[in-house]
Amino acid sequence: MLSEASDALLSVDAIAKRFGGVVALGGVSFAFGSSAIVGLIGPNGSGKTTLLNIINGVYAPDSGDIRINGATTVGWRPSALATGGVSRTFQTARVFQTLTVRQNLFIPLLHHGRMARSAAARRADELLAFVGLADFADHTASELSGGQQRLLEFARALVTRPRLVLMDEPFAGVHPTIKGQLIRCIRETVGRESTSFLIVSHEVPDLVRIADFMLCLVEGKVAASGTPAAVVRDETVVEGYLGRG
Ligand SMILES: Nc1ncnc2c1ncn2[C@@H]1O[C@H](COP(=O)(O)OP(=O)(O)OP(=O)(O)O)[C@@H](O)[C@H]1O
Ligand SMILES: [Mg+2]
Repeated sequence: MLSEASDALLSVDAIAKRFGGVVALGGVSFAFGSSAIVGLIGPNGSGKTTLLNIINGVYAPDSGDIRINGATTVGWRPSALATGGVSRTFQTARVFQTLTVRQNLFIPLLHHGRMARSAAARRADELLAFVGLADFADHTASELSGGQQRLLEFARALVTRPRLVLMDEPFAGVHPTIKGQLIRCIRETVGRESTSFLIVSHEVPDLVRIADFMLCLVEGKVAASGTPAAVVRDETVVEGYLGRG
């Protein structure tokens, strides 16, 4: 456990999930509080994306419980979880390609934030300045590089002022400059808003650099958890993941 379950922002309790004969998650438990950056590592197929999909309501678990600030969220849809403070970014960045960069934020701000047009426009520009995309506000999103699209997706995840952001492979294939920008934005969001981040990544050195805590899944189970330094030295992690390939 990374935090006492009683005061946890996110509490994952004995979560199990099968797909036909495949056990994707075999009883996963952990918890953490606010203002935390938590890294989630593990080999391909170890259940990382499935776990994010269960936390944000894409899949229902077969058994176990998910609690946000102590309230169970099992059975909630992703849209209800988004309103309840859980945002998500994806293994392939999801942005509206044909809209402008500003509209990608303005439209969700109008809908989710139920803001007046002028307030939504102001907040969209603030978010674009924050992620370093102000100069691209009037470009269509499809003109952005893959890394810039991740910055835009990150800004969109902040529209609901989330308590928890789940990120799936945010650093994969991203230019080091943009990766640095993304890391700065994550850290500043933790500092300003006390938001927590659960970040899945195969880029273990990047995660070790930014995470306060780390978890390693191997074959759907938590093989190790604790400080990043301890987890990457753990024998099960080295044998089950880092030592492979
Ligand atoms: N919708 C699905 N239907 C059937 N099997 C699935 C489904 N989603 C995941 N799985 C299986 O569950 C297991 C865990 O997959 P998951 O995508 O969670 O792994 P992962 O740790 O995210 O892997 P990667 O590092 O490659 O992204 C795998 O065996 C996968 O094939
Ligand atoms: Mg995955």
